[in-house]
Amino acid sequence: MLRLVVLLTAVCAVFGDSFAKKYGFSKVMTNCFGEDNYYGWSKMVFKAVKECYGEETVLPMHGASDMEEESGDNYGNQPVFVILNAEGQEQKFPLRFAFAQRQKREALYDAPVLKKMVSKVKAKIGNFTCVMKKMNYVDEDFNIDYDYMKQEIQDLDLDDELKADLMEGIDICNDFTQCLPAGKSPMPQKLQKMLAFLKCNKKKRFTVCMKHDFKKHLDFFDTSAIQKEDEDDSEAAEKLIHVMWGLENNDDFQLY
Ligand SMILES: *[C@@H]1O[C@H](CO)[C@@H](O)[C@H](O)[C@H]1NC(C)=O
Repeated sequence: MLRLVVLLTAVCAVFGDSFAKKYGFSKVMTNCFGEDNYYGWSKMVFKAVKECYGEETVLPMHGASDMEEESGDNYGNQPVFVILNAEGQEQKFPLRFAFAQRQKREALYDAPVLKKMVSKVKAKIGNFTCVMKKMNYVDEDFNIDYDYMKQEIQDLDLDDELKADLMEGIDICNDFTQCLPAGKSPMPQKLQKMLAFLKCNKKKRFTVCMKHDFKKHLDFFDTSAIQKEDEDDSEAAEKLIHVMWGLENNDDFQLY
């Protein structure tokens, strides 16, 4: 138990203070998109969050198509363990069967507790997918609408180069999420894709904004040391960020 507490404390020390991180992120975004754009967008998200809170949870199903539902392989919204049988074909067991044989020892996480955990996670994911739908970022079938997101940026009152970079970011993250491994995850593929895309896009937005901020303040640097003659300010800003990143970063260069 003590070990668990120590471990949790260590984890919290690293990933904790997510409120401060979020606050910092939104300040960077406000600086980048302008207050009107960013607060306007945030308001739309909050409105969606509020609406979703009172709605039923609808989650993506397993399998790329929804054909499976009709083949009798339907566990509704239950999380499903996927186990390979001898022929390598997947067999699915609902959670309650997978744990059925392991009831002898007294469990730390008993069934009611686990059930509660499952429903909490379901509600969390349900709220996420609901907000994504209300924002029109995914369709009814949880397919990501990349064109809509690009149009949304296109319609903003922003510097053209910043817009172009942000839209390119969406394309890059689209490419990136196309090659997610089709592994045997209990999480439906469409949900994995949504999460991976969002993560990628948030990171991309951040770096694009950082680049444009560096570009604005390029006169703080004598870039002659790194800028070639045929390179514009954008490229110089991008190089500067990489130098700064490499200088500050230690974790990414450690093998353990
Ligand atoms: C959002 O979460 C709340 C509980 O936290 C839950 O009652 C509600 O059904 C969820 N909404 C959706 C759309 O999943």
